Amino acid sequence: MKSKTTRRQFLKNHSRLIVSGSLLTSRPSLRGYALENSPKRIKIGVIGCGSVSHSYLPHLAKSPFAELVSACDIIPERAAAQARNFNIPNQYPHIDRMLAGAPFDLLVNLTDMQEHEHLNKQAIEAGKHVWSEKPMANSLAAGQTLIDLARKKGVRLWGAPAMVVSPQFDFMARTLAAGKLGRVAAAHADYGHTGPDWSSFFYEKGGGSLPDLAVYNLTTLTGLLGPARSVVAMTSIVTPTRTIRGKGEVNVETEDNAMALMDHGNGVISHVQSGFNYFNPHGHDGSEEKRHTISIVGTQGFMGLVGYDWDPQGVDLATENQPTLTRYATDKGDFVWQMGASLAAECLATGQDIPITPEHALHVLEIIQAIHESQKTGLRIPLQSTFVL
Ligand SMILES: NC(=O)c1ccc[n+]([C@@H]2O[C@H](COP(=O)([O-])OP(=O)(O)OC[C@H]3O[C@@H](n4cnc5c(N)ncnc54)[C@H](O)[C@@H]3O)[C@@H](O)[C@H]2O)c1
Repeated sequence: MKSKTTRRQFLKNHSRLIVSGSLLTSRPSLRGYALENSPKRIKIGVIGCGSVSHSYLPHLAKSPFAELVSACDIIPERAAAQARNFNIPNQYPHIDRMLAGAPFDLLVNLTDMQEHEHLNKQAIEAGKHVWSEKPMANSLAAGQTLIDLARKKGVRLWGAPAMVVSPQFDFMARTLAAGKLGRVAAAHADYGHTGPDWSSFFYEKGGGSLPDLAVYNLTTLTGLLGPARSVVAMTSIVTPTRTIRGKGEVNVETEDNAMALMDHGNGVISHVQSGFNYFNPHGHDGSEEKRHTISIVGTQGFMGLVGYDWDPQGVDLATENQPTLTRYATDKGDFVWQMGASLAAECLATGQDIPITPEHALHVLEIIQAIHESQKTGLRIPLQSTFVL
């Protein structure tokens, strides 16, 4: 299958950031970036200098394919602090100023979830490639418009998350492709904690545990089991008000508790749950999570991902031929969840494509939209979008 070859090839070639540079893809937008005539480093403008920038910027700063050119935040002190921390020569308080300022190639969008859509659009219109934190837009229609616009402008658009490049995802995909689980029947995934307390957008319309947390599990399960065809779901608000640092009490306007069933076709059904009211002894520290957060079962086998898909620790497998649960794929290599923007820069610099697609991110966005629709109407919601991994 083309999809598997692409991911395998990526993992093989991407071993610890040593890149052959020989895998120029046939995508027209990449042709101008062949190694011999490409800039060595891709110039990067980062917008949003809050919490997640503390994970992205150290990774980008170490990338041999990235040059941090500009930092932007509507809270100028944040842009100034990160510019100082990472030797970024330019800082701006607004995207208009950044786009009109020092030239750059790739916008890395790390702003509030509800801000991504209009900032991504503005950057693409200005001819910039975009790596966007999730979600890349606020609706299926707007996401599709962004993909079309990027194609028209000849630039690349990528949406987080990046787990499909982890060795653990690859191991699970190969195990399924080899038929080791027999006829696959069901899967379950869950992710929750007690919720962020540093920004209110997580609890406002367009926020919630689905685009913040379930997005990882939805990406993994659709990546492994194939695009979903329809969704039924329930959501609720467990905690109607929250205390946000520096802001005080805010009303919770969207779900903080969600469960969804997806039909992947061929009889395969999966279940995903997420929430901001889950006691979690490890908080946000994924490396301490040792239970199976994703499990897949079929007529001849069971497979459980140890830890989170964004911080995977290994994969446990038991099959008819080898019924003792055995752990595999315990080495993460250089995979970390915050590596997506660095991979995008590497892709632009070398022409070696990455198996992270905006169509997959758009499909997950449609699932999230359908979950809200199912809760509102009580109906099973058919899905339109699809993707090839
Ligand atoms: N914090 C994490 O650990 C984490 C992990 C993975 C993904 N994410 C994702 O990263 C994104 C940001 O989350 P965060 O936790 O860093 O939030 P945050 O509130 O800490 O940071 C967001 C920053 O964006 C700035 N901003 C908002 N609108 C802007 C605009 N129009 N122009 C310029 N700057 C703007 C804010 O001032 C703020 O500094 C979200 O999509 C979130 O889901 C966060």
